[in-house]
Amino acid sequence: MRSSGIENPMGHPGQRPQTKHIRYGDEQDLEAILAIEAACFAQPWPAELLGRRLEQGSFFVYEEAQVIRGYIIIGLRPPRPWEQLRQQLQSWLGRAGKRAEPYGHVLNLAVAPRYRRRGIAGVLLRTGLAYLRQRRAGCVELEVRVNNEAALRLYRNFGFQIVARLPRYYYQQGEDAYLMRKCFQSSPCLDR
Ligand SMILES: CC(C)(COP(=O)(O)OP(=O)(O)OC[C@H]1O[C@@H](n2cnc3c(N)ncnc32)[C@H](O)[C@@H]1OP(=O)(O)O)[C@@H](O)C(=O)NCCC(=O)NCCS
Repeated sequence: MRSSGIENPMGHPGQRPQTKHIRYGDEQDLEAILAIEAACFAQPWPAELLGRRLEQGSFFVYEEAQVIRGYIIIGLRPPRPWEQLRQQLQSWLGRAGKRAEPYGHVLNLAVAPRYRRRGIAGVLLRTGLAYLRQRRAGCVELEVRVNNEAALRLYRNFGFQIVARLPRYYYQQGEDAYLMRKCFQSSPCLDR
C-alpha cells in the first residue's frame, strides 16, 4: 500500500528512501495536496475541485521518499470554433493551412515551501509541457499574480510571455493577473 504522502518528520525505522519521481496523482494523494495548497495560496482550491481534477487525469505529483513535494495540474481544450472555421476556410481556398490545434492550460502549480529552489517546479512544468505537446497542443496559457516574482521568472525561463493583464482576476484579494502564453514551434497561434 502506498503511503498517504503526508510527511512524518521522524521517518520510519528501516524504511528505504524512495527515489524521486513524477507520477499521475490519484485520490489517495488528496490530503497531501490539500496541505500544500493551503501552505501556498491565499485562495486555495477546494478539495472537491482538486478531487475532480485528480479523477480527470493530467494531474502530476512530484514524490520523493514517499512524500509529495509538489504538483502541477494541466488542462487541455479543443480549438475554439473560429480557429476551426479559419482552418476550414483555408482548406476551401486551397491553402494548405495547419490543422487547428488544442490549447493547453497550466491550471495550478505548487511546491511545498520547504522544498523550493531545488528545481522541482521546473521538472513539473517540463512534464506538463511534454504531456501537452504529445497531445498536439499548439499553445499553452496560464494566469499568474502580477507580483509573483518567483513564478514569473520560472515561466519566463520556459519561454512564456505576458500577453495581457487581467484586472482583479484574483477577486478576493483584488489582485491583477498576467495572462502568459507559450507557443510550441510551428504553431499557427504564433501568428496572433
Ligand atoms: C513558483 C514555485 C512553484 C517555484 O517552485 P520551485 O520548485 O521553488 O522552483 P524551481 O526550484 O524549479 O525554480 C525554477 C526557477 O524559477 C525561478 N524561481 C523560483 N523561485 C524563485 C524565487 N523565490 N525568486 C526568484 N526566482 C525564483 C528561478 O528562475 C528558478 O531558477 P534558478 O533556481 O535556476 O534561479 C514555488 O515558489 C511555489 O509553489 N510558489 C507558491 C505557489 C505559486 O505561486 N504557484 C504558481 C502559481 S501561477
